[in-house]
Amino acid sequence: MSTAHSDRSGRGRSGIFRTKTVEQSIQDTEEPEHALRKDLSSLDLTVFGVGVVIGTGIFVLTGKVAKENAGPSVALAFVLAGIVCGLAALCYAEFASTVPVAGSAYTFSYASLGELPAWIIGWDLILELALGCAVVAVGWSGYIQSLMANAGWHLPGPLTGAHDGTFGFDILAFALVLVLTGILVAGMKLSSRVTAVVVGVKVTVVLIVIIVGAFFISGSNYEPFVPPSESAPSGGGLAAPLVQVIFGFTPSNFGVMGIFSAAAVVFFAFIGFDIVATAAEETRNPQRDLPRGILGSLLICTVLYVAVSIVVTGMQKYDQLSVKAPLADAFKAAGHPFWAGLISFGAAVGLTSVCMILLLGQSRVFFAMSRDGLLPRFFSTVHPRYGTPYRSTILLGVVVAVVAGFTSIDVLAELVNIGTLFAFIVVAIGVVILRRTRPELPRAFRTPFVPFVPVLSVLASLWLMLNLPSETWVRFAVWMAIGVVVYFLYGYRRSRVNQPDRRPTV
Ligand code: ALA
Repeated sequence: MSTAHSDRSGRGRSGIFRTKTVEQSIQDTEEPEHALRKDLSSLDLTVFGVGVVIGTGIFVLTGKVAKENAGPSVALAFVLAGIVCGLAALCYAEFASTVPVAGSAYTFSYASLGELPAWIIGWDLILELALGCAVVAVGWSGYIQSLMANAGWHLPGPLTGAHDGTFGFDILAFALVLVLTGILVAGMKLSSRVTAVVVGVKVTVVLIVIIVGAFFISGSNYEPFVPPSESAPSGGGLAAPLVQVIFGFTPSNFGVMGIFSAAAVVFFAFIGFDIVATAAEETRNPQRDLPRGILGSLLICTVLYVAVSIVVTGMQKYDQLSVKAPLADAFKAAGHPFWAGLISFGAAVGLTSVCMILLLGQSRVFFAMSRDGLLPRFFSTVHPRYGTPYRSTILLGVVVAVVAGFTSIDVLAELVNIGTLFAFIVVAIGVVILRRTRPELPRAFRTPFVPFVPVLSVLASLWLMLNLPSETWVRFAVWMAIGVVVYFLYGYRRSRVNQPDRRPTV
């Protein structure tokens, strides 16, 4: 390991901690063959953020978490998760406005922490984005199947997906991901227009839940607001949150600890605001628009989530909520099937945009890693006509479609959360390091109270991670270990920062 600082050519530090300078990152995006089109505004970015953030988390997980972990206090869990994300957003916004290049946390850490940490974060983002996309596609399929059932149509059982350990193929989730891949390959402009319409439908449905649902609230449903703590069935085992295992608590649900466990799960509902940062390179004025896009979309979503969870737990007793379509089913239970159908339809439409943007974010991270030579350069050539990274988009789209086809969602969602929280920690540390190593860089947005806010962000993210089940930690460790092996077998030698003349290494 070398301790020398990097020079402006980006090759000052050697080995696994070599960094790619900010200037070099920006210069790479200007090579015509590898350049993306710049036509997004701050409004596009906010729509983009809201488009990906509101999804399975609020439409599906709210019911499950209220029923199993927190009761009506799920609203507090949303506040906690929102605060964790707000702290991370303040760090993301500084990084994104300093290093406006495709790749999000991956690019940021390459500029600050070094190549191995950057690789680790890129590998980790695959968990967040690709698996997140698969989770949402399966959730979407569930809503479509429920709408089809209303019309009396049923798919053959084996084509409805995996259930309770049985083998199955989810043909709808598979097909959705392939269609969205095609749209993304055809170009950013088209996809952001489609996204804008879909986001409109989704936000309308969420507002319907809040406004119409408020008329059906019964105060008695809020008692108790924080249900008393209960022992987890069969001691929890590996399914118990790591923090309870470490500190020797009897694994339990509900109570104050239940609010934290709930926050670690509903955190999924916020995933996506960071993806706004992955579109930095395609933004007209990233220095100004990125912080606005990131913080704006996060704020809008937090307010909507708290309102929705308060309304839904007020409409129906928490232990009666459905786990598959809690928002729609609360209206059914209140005797309003029309609203329930409308909400199901809107949710299905809304989940489409979440799935598409997660896929887009993933293909951009993959693209950036490939452009740097850590993955084969073959994947970072943009389409001559559409200006999109079509090879990485198609590869990832097919892989995600297959994963979505064969996997059930619950385990995957927790794995997505742990991966994302880990990325938040790396970004917060990166802000502090880059302030020290490159204090002179222009920063359109500066995180307030550095290092206090980044340190708080690290602690808050770590706390949520500790509230995830032990088995999720084990899966995460295995995934990251595979990533390190791949880096030493491929990326370490092929890295462009490692090529003296920086010739592409296709
Ligand atoms: N935040 C997104 C969702 O809730 C990923 O589906």
